[in-house]
Amino acid sequence: MENKERKNVFVPPAEIQRQGKYISLVSTVLASRYGDSPKAYVHTYGCQGNVSDSERIKGQLREMGYGFTDTPDDADLVLFNTCAVREHAEDRVFGNVGALKPIKEKRKNMIIVLCGCMMQQSHVAERIKKSYPYVNLVFGTFAIHKLPEMLYTVLSRGKRVFEITEEEGNIAEGLPTERDRGAKAWLPIMYGCNNFCSYCIVPYVRGRERSRMPEDIIREAKELIAQGAKDITLLGQNVNSYGKYPDCGMNFAGLLREINALEGDFIIRFMTSHPKDCTYELLDAMADCEKVARHLHLPVQSGNNRVLKEMNRRYTREQYLDLIRYAKEKMPDLSITSDIIVGFPGETYEELCDTISLIREVEYTSLFTFIYSRRKGTKAAEMEDIVPYAEKSKWFRELCTAQEEIAGKRTASMVGKVYKVLVEPSENEGYLTGRTGGNISIEFKGTPDLIGKFADIEVTEAKTWILYGKIK
Ligand code: SAH
Ligand code: SF4
Ligand code: F3S
Repeated sequence: MENKERKNVFVPPAEIQRQGKYISLVSTVLASRYGDSPKAYVHTYGCQGNVSDSERIKGQLREMGYGFTDTPDDADLVLFNTCAVREHAEDRVFGNVGALKPIKEKRKNMIIVLCGCMMQQSHVAERIKKSYPYVNLVFGTFAIHKLPEMLYTVLSRGKRVFEITEEEGNIAEGLPTERDRGAKAWLPIMYGCNNFCSYCIVPYVRGRERSRMPEDIIREAKELIAQGAKDITLLGQNVNSYGKYPDCGMNFAGLLREINALEGDFIIRFMTSHPKDCTYELLDAMADCEKVARHLHLPVQSGNNRVLKEMNRRYTREQYLDLIRYAKEKMPDLSITSDIIVGFPGETYEELCDTISLIREVEYTSLFTFIYSRRKGTKAAEMEDIVPYAEKSKWFRELCTAQEEIAGKRTASMVGKVYKVLVEPSENEGYLTGRTGGNISIEFKGTPDLIGKFADIEVTEAKTWILYGKIK
């Protein structure tokens, strides 16, 4: 790989070291301002990519001297890592930032930080600048590694800081990470997206697609396994196109095989797969790798070719169904899930019916269904959207009812079978929980000493979305 290409994608190590100096400077200011243990409250909206970013944000906060609290009421720093994917997500953030105002009036020294995808949009940053004067720091998705320097400016000069410039690439290796998922871990393998699906804001707020180097990913995977991780999810907006930019000399199928070959007893998951880049080669690799969960999240969005074209998804219903056929042939026990958008501009009821017939054909385990939300700056935002929301809600319910029927049949067919699960605490007293390789939850009785270990569970009862069972 050419050095020039690499330089544009990775934050130079010297810059990470420079931030290290600010970490010490912030620690000193914090000690004099808040005494021994300043507390931070970090709330994350949106997808696992954001959750993973928050782990790196929290890692930096910890190094600067912050501990963590689970309420903004007693926090010295409140940070919201935001999502822009649907309007509803944005409305919630504005509401929750508004709710911080009276808290900050009582705690004048509190620092309020907003970051993430929503902030990367200049119209949002402008609105915060004008209408939320008590917010101290706003930064976008390209500036996570600069948190120490930005926070130092806020703390030492009392200035508001807005940092939403888009850089060509921003993979920052070597940032400290604060993980709180126990035996489960997120492992980002790539950032950004090049697909520009016509409804989607992600490419505008996350920038161009860029991959981490295989050696960095493998190193982190080894560290995670050594720290006790037993369920590792590889993350990217489109993991199937891993390794293209910069040229990593390895594609996603190759990466899966490498991680599968690492020593240890652990499960590998990955998301999200884009059907246009999902190949037989990848499905073969999945089938060959015994540590890879038998779960494929392959968002279809719509089952109608005209709508798919307007969405700029770049595959047809037939191509999608061919991949599903091949995947099921290779892995008969495969669990398949998807995302679906209802009410894309111009969609008709007949076109929705194509989606319903597709979900019946695929027999998904579960679906994430969304009513289309207009996102400023995307291509679909310019399209005429005449179907009233109430009508779309009806369609949405129809789709969900069809899926319930399919999911119910699938879970019922699992009764009597035995699944290996990673044991997790359950919200129901006396119970534990775990997910099958196909990502369906099973509740069962057991003692807390099993948490974090694998157990074989026999399914004894099935509801639509959840299974009950006993330890084998
Ligand atoms: N990269 C992933 C998805 C990221 S966003 C992929 O390509 O599959 C997660 C889901 O949000 C999408 O799959 C889509 O179903 C939904 N989504 C994205 N933009 C949306 C919008 N404007 N309105 C409604 N749902 C949307
Ligand atoms: Fe959005 Fe499409 Fe990229 Fe997924 S692949 S993040 S839906 S533009
Ligand atoms: Fe939301 Fe950004 Fe993820 S827009 S879905 S948090 S990439």
